[in-house]
Amino acid sequence: MSLVRPNIEAMAGYVPGEQPKEGEAVKLNTNENPYRASEKAYDAIRAVADKGLSRYPNAAGQAFREAAAAIYGVEPDWIMCGNGSDDILTILTRTFVGENQLLRLPYPSYILYKSLAEIQGARSEEVRFNDDWTLPDYFAQAPTAFASERVNTLENVSPEDLKLVYLPNPNSPSGTRLSNEQIRKIADALPCPIVIDEAYADFSGTNCIELAKENPRVIVSRTMSKSYALAGLRFGFMIARPDTIAETFKVKDSYNCDALSIAAATAAIQDQEWLAATTKKIVATRERLMTRMRELGFIVPESFSNFTWNVWRNNELSHKELYLYLKKNGYLVRYMNYEGYGDGLRISVGTDEDTDKCLALVERYLNGDR
Ligand SMILES: Cc1ncc(COP(=O)(O)O)c(C=O)c1O
Repeated sequence: MSLVRPNIEAMAGYVPGEQPKEGEAVKLNTNENPYRASEKAYDAIRAVADKGLSRYPNAAGQAFREAAAAIYGVEPDWIMCGNGSDDILTILTRTFVGENQLLRLPYPSYILYKSLAEIQGARSEEVRFNDDWTLPDYFAQAPTAFASERVNTLENVSPEDLKLVYLPNPNSPSGTRLSNEQIRKIADALPCPIVIDEAYADFSGTNCIELAKENPRVIVSRTMSKSYALAGLRFGFMIARPDTIAETFKVKDSYNCDALSIAAATAAIQDQEWLAATTKKIVATRERLMTRMRELGFIVPESFSNFTWNVWRNNELSHKELYLYLKKNGYLVRYMNYEGYGDGLRISVGTDEDTDKCLALVERYLNGDR
């Protein structure tokens, strides 16, 4: 007999993107930033290391809270730091969603949300995106027993079961975004908190921080992994009303962020000049990637992120085969297959040179090279 909780035993577990050995492949599979982070972040790490690591860090990451608060026009008690934004999402799920209760997410989107519900012994309601990557009205409504918009089957659903909604904006894998007006409507109608996962918002030109200031049920999650080029550091944060932040503090590990990451993330977020210059470059490359993939015969939804979602217009060709061809030639992209939806390739924006080489390989494959 297993000693493990049945819900843990039953779950498949989230599988992170492939991380090849250094130099083994050009990584275009986990939406990292191809550029080196602000030198100020590296200087901050060296300064902390020189001073020593024998003491615990500030438990709240106060230096970062103050820096981020100044940038977003809130007080520091509106910010909570996390060990990557995955930590933030874990803390939020644990704070709001209990056993058997319901967590709602759009589909297809970030797979981790569902795993977090499973760990809680909670249920998740996956609501299908419309074909144009907008959401059906149902997304903002209380759950009902029979909902055609739902991907999965759920029994004994009552309206009060819904405790938390996740909305990645821009979404992954599509790179698409909902307008702030649409999100405002959803947030106003929902009977529970909504987490806007803004992992990619710096590439989008819009965000929901003002909405979080207006609506106490809106929580914004951010990461330093993508736009700030610090995926290896593990640092994320959320912006929400101080009373919400105070509750989540009860759930987080005491020292969930270490001294090196707090110092580096603080220095990085203070270097907004670096952020603006780097995102500008990435957005320009993204536009070229999108245009060229469309010319090569893919359906590519308008991306507001640092990756594109690519589906063959001609469905006789295999996404899996192209993924393997690119991998064989040293380019790692993300092959995704969503049950009941279909498969495709998510390609992260690399440097101009790597993006061009990847595009040239796609073209070679289409010209018959195997
Ligand atoms: C939508 C979304 N949210 C959150 C994350 C987690 O990022 P991190 O834990 O590195 O902050 C990712 C990473 O790929 C993501 O795609």
